[in-house]
Amino acid sequence: MATAVDLVVRGGLVINESWRGAATVLVGDGKILAVQDASQPLPVRAAGASEVDATGRWVLPGGVDPHCHVGIDFGGYATQDDYSSCTLAALHGGTTTIVDFAIPVGGQTPLDAVVERRDMATKALTDTALHGCIVSWDDETADVIRQMAHDGITTIKMFTTYRDLVMANADTIRRVLTALGEIGGLAYVHAESNHLVEACQERLFDAGHIDVSYHPQARPPLTEVDAVATVLKIAELTGAPVYFVHQSTPEVVDLVHEARSRGVRAFAETCPHYALLDEDLYRGEGGEGFVCCPPIRARALVDGLMERIVAGAVDTIGSDHCCYTMEQKRAGRHDLRAMPYGLPGVETRAPLLFSELISKRGVPPERFVALLAATPAKLNGLYPQKGVIAPGADADLVVWDPHARWRIRTTDLHMETDYTPYEGWEVTGRPDVVISGGEIVVEKGMTVATRQGRLLHAGPIDM
Ligand code: URP
Ligand code: ZN
Ligand code: ZN
Repeated sequence: MATAVDLVVRGGLVINESWRGAATVLVGDGKILAVQDASQPLPVRAAGASEVDATGRWVLPGGVDPHCHVGIDFGGYATQDDYSSCTLAALHGGTTTIVDFAIPVGGQTPLDAVVERRDMATKALTDTALHGCIVSWDDETADVIRQMAHDGITTIKMFTTYRDLVMANADTIRRVLTALGEIGGLAYVHAESNHLVEACQERLFDAGHIDVSYHPQARPPLTEVDAVATVLKIAELTGAPVYFVHQSTPEVVDLVHEARSRGVRAFAETCPHYALLDEDLYRGEGGEGFVCCPPIRARALVDGLMERIVAGAVDTIGSDHCCYTMEQKRAGRHDLRAMPYGLPGVETRAPLLFSELISKRGVPPERFVALLAATPAKLNGLYPQKGVIAPGADADLVVWDPHARWRIRTTDLHMETDYTPYEGWEVTGRPDVVISGGEIVVEKGMTVATRQGRLLHAGPIDM
């Protein structure tokens, strides 16, 4: 071993997506040097080397959040965080890599948006990566996509909704999918059919139904089904892969799954709020705090989605983190066209899913690792640098206490907002020690060090 060992994580149960065992993780210079059987003697360590005793706990790869919005100004509302605060919150929730979106705003080109995001990301305390975003195809777009890939961005987001802001038409989606397919990239699609959403909204508004309680009817499941089905046909025709962000119903997950069984390279992401919360919340006190697109669905659909996650039909779980305050969310309460969309969640994503999947439903921890770290890393061209505990990977590790019981309280969280959709939820399982790039950064809920994150260079996707 040429590099000196400067950190040892010993005594824990190491869990990857396809392997678990009692092992010692040897770290040097920010990388995992070796994963050795727990019975083997420790090698010589560098002077001042650190040691983490993970006895009785699990050692998992750091979480990779494939869907995070940091410091955005979208539809007239600016989220409250920046890369520093968002990534600190991520670390406290066991996530050591986030992937943000370079969405062009205010007349920016897609490459301008990337330049701006890269500058913002210099404040990050985790490693970060970016998705590009294309709104419309023109003569330069093929070169833009190649340029992004050259610069380490191989995933590109498109929206089938949000007219006049970022909506891409079907022709643009087809061309971008094709171009990305040729270079080993992946299109990320927010799928809600805008013309159907607008038709639903018009009908509601004509009847005077425009407050937050009508949000689910303004964007019903069929708007998502329609868009997913259309984009799947494009993927089938072009042979290019596609990834659907924030899928909110079992039906759309099934569409993806069924297409996959026919050879279409389609992938399904969902988010904790779609698997755990239901639409009754929109009719209660503080309902505006839950407004996101697509909306949170009826309980039967929520339960059906959770069944799909447990059964292995969902590929990844992203947070779709958007850090608005309650005051901002309330601003649009009386007109659902004017609300800031999105929920804070980068910090709660992994603990909630650990609790709900592993502790409550007995899902094997390997599957949790796949959903929250390994598959997001693969589908973002970051694997095996991220998402696995193996020699050569970055030393991003989380020592989880699988038995810790605690309550989610806004006051204990680090996100730049004054609420969480999960206030008071009791969860089991907690990140105890978080290691980012070989440094211990969080211990027992305390920030013990900070490390400047690196902007990652994504390669071709690996699935
Ligand atoms: O409501 C949401 N999801 N807001 C964030 C932007 C997006 O559509 O992902
Ligand atoms: Zn979206
Ligand atoms: Zn989003």
